[in-house]
Amino acid sequence: MNSYTTTGIEGLDFILSGGFPVGSSILLDGAPGTGKTILGMQFLYNGAINNIESGIYITFEEFPDQIYKELTTFGWDLKQLEKENKLRVICMSPEVLLEQMKQPNGLFEQIIKELNCKRVVIDSLNLLHFGIEDQVEKRKAVYTLRNILRKYSLTSLLIHEQTSIIREEIPFVSYVVDGVIKLSLQDHQTIYRKRTLEVLKMRGCKIKEGEHIYRITNEGIHLVPALSMFEDTVVTENQTNISTGISSLDRLLLGGIPSGTAFILDTNSKANYKYFVASIITSRIKSGEKVVLILSNLMNLLELEHIYHLYGVDLEKVVKQEKIYFIEHYDRPIPEAYESAVIKVNQMGNEEYKQTIREKVDAIVLRGAERGEKWFVFHDLNTIVSQRGKDFVKTYFTEEVAFITSAGASLLALSNFTEIGAETASFLERTCNGVFQTWVDGNYQYFQLKKSPQGNMSQPLLVENIQSNPFIRLI
Ligand SMILES: Nc1ncnc2c1ncn2[C@@H]1O[C@H](COP(=O)(O)OP(=O)(O)OP(=O)(O)O)[C@@H](O)[C@H]1O
Ligand SMILES: [Mg+2]
Repeated sequence: MNSYTTTGIEGLDFILSGGFPVGSSILLDGAPGTGKTILGMQFLYNGAINNIESGIYITFEEFPDQIYKELTTFGWDLKQLEKENKLRVICMSPEVLLEQMKQPNGLFEQIIKELNCKRVVIDSLNLLHFGIEDQVEKRKAVYTLRNILRKYSLTSLLIHEQTSIIREEIPFVSYVVDGVIKLSLQDHQTIYRKRTLEVLKMRGCKIKEGEHIYRITNEGIHLVPALSMFEDTVVTENQTNISTGISSLDRLLLGGIPSGTAFILDTNSKANYKYFVASIITSRIKSGEKVVLILSNLMNLLELEHIYHLYGVDLEKVVKQEKIYFIEHYDRPIPEAYESAVIKVNQMGNEEYKQTIREKVDAIVLRGAERGEKWFVFHDLNTIVSQRGKDFVKTYFTEEVAFITSAGASLLALSNFTEIGAETASFLERTCNGVFQTWVDGNYQYFQLKKSPQGNMSQPLLVENIQSNPFIRLI
């Protein structure tokens, strides 16, 4: 199946990548009052009113007048659509329906032909089954229904009233249908109840996963897709966006990290962030930017040399070309080849440190920028916090971000938000244009774009290690 019929329910079409697959039978499962009837009728109404497709609503319980009355608040003129033969609301008993479906050219087929009907809602599957004790007979009823829906290529919603008692029915029906949509109503923060819609299955259709919140408004169901803004965008690399070296991450960023912005990478202690940072920095170096880097206690220059080598960067050569500088907070040996590029700050108090960075780093960045160079600064905030304290980091980092970005350079800072505490973390988060987060939960590592200059976020993605450059893939 590759063509879709639009439901006209905006958020729903979006999470289904266009609408329901044409000719599919979809189970609409939900507790009483979740909005199944509204959603079903909205699907038929939108098809009819826009002259897309006509539809039939079959109810076993309520009379058409009752349904019209319940749905008057939405302003849908269902009676008029019935007159125009675009909609039909039919109340009949399940026995009669099944009987008519089995007969060639029975009542059901006649109405389908009369309306040239393409959409059907059955309210409800439970009632279709009601009174049938035998499991085999129940299945036969479902197959009878499915066969006729298939014969006329009808796109159908089969409403299923979720009950805790008849649980065993659901698995069977779920296999037979092409799609399953579940509506739920949950208590949320004690003061209000949250309505959510989740697509559990949709054959031949790329869906946006997760529980999406919907509201019942005076226009009907209004669904707001969760974290929906990132997919399906074309990667457009230009001078202002720089690749992170990780294509899936570039897509999240709608092309890459924009020049002149500041990002923070929040990691927990178990997460392996090394490859993210190395991939981003080496991509900067390869694109011709000059780099200033605060060395962390976990990685010395030789380790850095090794990991950059994996990404095709010869660090010694970059040092010789005077394209990289290192800030060293620890008293540890410096390989000879790197000596000229290292700024040692391990003996310095905070004021002297600030002064040194101003003179030796900020000044070079500014002069470089004036000559048209691009600079990139990497901060290890964990190192600064452990060596210089939380209070220092707040003022220092804010000033640094302001200076660096105003000079047109970009910045990435590594931080552990849990360790520095919520208050400082949210302060730092506000200071930056973008926030990445990576963390370990159980046996998996996750990655999420939580804030970006373009205003988009991502879902939590799985981090998979791969054997070749860039050694990470986001799934
Ligand atoms: N105009 C409206 N604005 C907001 N909410 C509404 C409006 N009209 C109806 N509702 C809500 O919609 C719910 C009923 O929706 P609907 O009849 O589609 O549910 P249902 O899942 O079909 O229920 P049942 O299983 O009882 O048939 C009501 O409980 C009410 O809370
Ligand atoms: Mg109902």
